[in-house]
Amino acid sequence: MKKITSALVALGLGVALSASVQATSNDEAVIERIKAVGSVCIEGDDSCGGAAAAPVAAGGTRSAEEVYTAKCAGCHATGAAGAPKYGTSDWADRGSKGMETLLANAINGINAMPPRGLCADCSDEELQGAIQHMIDSVQ
Ligand code: HEC
Repeated sequence: MKKITSALVALGLGVALSASVQATSNDEAVIERIKAVGSVCIEGDDSCGGAAAAPVAAGGTRSAEEVYTAKCAGCHATGAAGAPKYGTSDWADRGSKGMETLLANAINGINAMPPRGLCADCSDEELQGAIQHMIDSVQ
């Protein structure tokens, strides 16, 4: 019995020892593992990959089609919730309101159309481009 106990103690000690040895030698690996996921890439800093550094927010850098596809198509491609549907006469009717009214309503929201079409980072120019893109879809 005594033998078994001391064997167990030795085993336990061995495990504890190897665990602590491992912990020290793995510090770097641990730091590597727990450091923040991803890193902040400041606009214009091309040391972190051109694509990631591309400006996303305001400035009208996205094409009308990109804004429409990414931000508006969710509702306007299907006509969800009564949204004027892309490529249909819906837009001929809306178009007759004039861009000024359409843009103002897109910015402020109207009925089930949420303010800015939920695109918080769309500039007014980008919204206008997307609206024009939808108006053009019927011509
Ligand atoms: C959550 C769904 C949804 C999204 C996303 C959305 N819209 Fe709409 N939109 C609507 C609905 C619904 C209407 C119809 C509102 C009404 O006239 O009753 C509408 C109407 C409009 C109108 C017509 C306003 C008027 O005066 O007749 C414009 C312009 C418009 N949307 C632009 C956009 C643009 C630009 C985007 C993307 C940046 C966008 N929408 C994204 C739901 C959406």
